[in-house]
Amino acid sequence: MIATLKLVVTAVEDAARDIRTVTLATPDGGELPSFVPGSHLVVECEGPANAYSLVSDGVLPEHYRISVLRVPDGAGGSRWIHDLGVGDTVSALPPRSAFAPVATATKHLLIAGGIGVTPMLSHLHAARRWGRRVQLLYAFRDGYGAHVADVEELVAALPGGCVELLSDRAALLGRLGEVLGTQPLGTHLYVCGPGAMIDAVLAAAQAGGWPASRLHAERFGVDALDPGEPFSVTLTGSGSTVDVPSGVSLLDALDGAGVAVPRLCRQGVCGECRIPVTAGTPLHRDLFLTDEERRAGDAVMACVSRSLGPTLEVPL
Ligand code: FES
Repeated sequence: MIATLKLVVTAVEDAARDIRTVTLATPDGGELPSFVPGSHLVVECEGPANAYSLVSDGVLPEHYRISVLRVPDGAGGSRWIHDLGVGDTVSALPPRSAFAPVATATKHLLIAGGIGVTPMLSHLHAARRWGRRVQLLYAFRDGYGAHVADVEELVAALPGGCVELLSDRAALLGRLGEVLGTQPLGTHLYVCGPGAMIDAVLAAAQAGGWPASRLHAERFGVDALDPGEPFSVTLTGSGSTVDVPSGVSLLDALDGAGVAVPRLCRQGVCGECRIPVTAGTPLHRDLFLTDEERRAGDAVMACVSRSLGPTLEVPL
């Protein structure tokens, strides 16, 4: 069980249309756990917990800041966040990143669409601290440009830093070919935004010969996930096999077989439903495991992740 943080809202402001920035601190104003760039905070909203990228600096923070897009027809987490006022209290899991910058990169190419700019803010804070070389492409619709002044100020402080503001996804995709083709060797690419935009950027990079190890994507929530292929999971403890049909999560399939797995968010962000894997290859779709943990392939987040092959084996 991961210990939760009790936080109090100390400020609320509108960052752009339908985007609200909430500042959180400890009730006594004490220091909060530091976090690495690209971290998100899992906030226990009404209903399932939700993950929101931290837009503030992660070194010895006195507060955490998140910027949240209101999704009228979502599960309710964003509406709950938008209703928060100064003095309200929230519970959250400590920050965690599955989207951290690679320290050995010669350059960091950040590509953001809409609210996907939020994890880039903590990347930029860290880049300024460590003098990293950064280029940012940021596409947003008119009126929805959150943190524009912040990113411009942060990038301006970087050696050779460069930011391009683009009016929409088409403009972004129109710039991609040249930008991807003119990066120095050893550049790492980080992309966050709507799923279709992420897919287009990754496809363009792969077509341009970028190795997968230099591509990093942050997707938002379980809504971005497809139903997935069916597979079966062998439980070595009981010797039984459980089928996981398309559109049914591994967690729900295990529930149906009477195998209880702890869970909290059901969105791949909190880490509660992590189970070990002893054979087979997980198809990771969570925001919790690090790249290294994913490569190890010995654990899976049962609420969102699946199997790359027809079978997975778990010691349950
Ligand atoms: S329940 Fe939170 S990661 Fe699965």
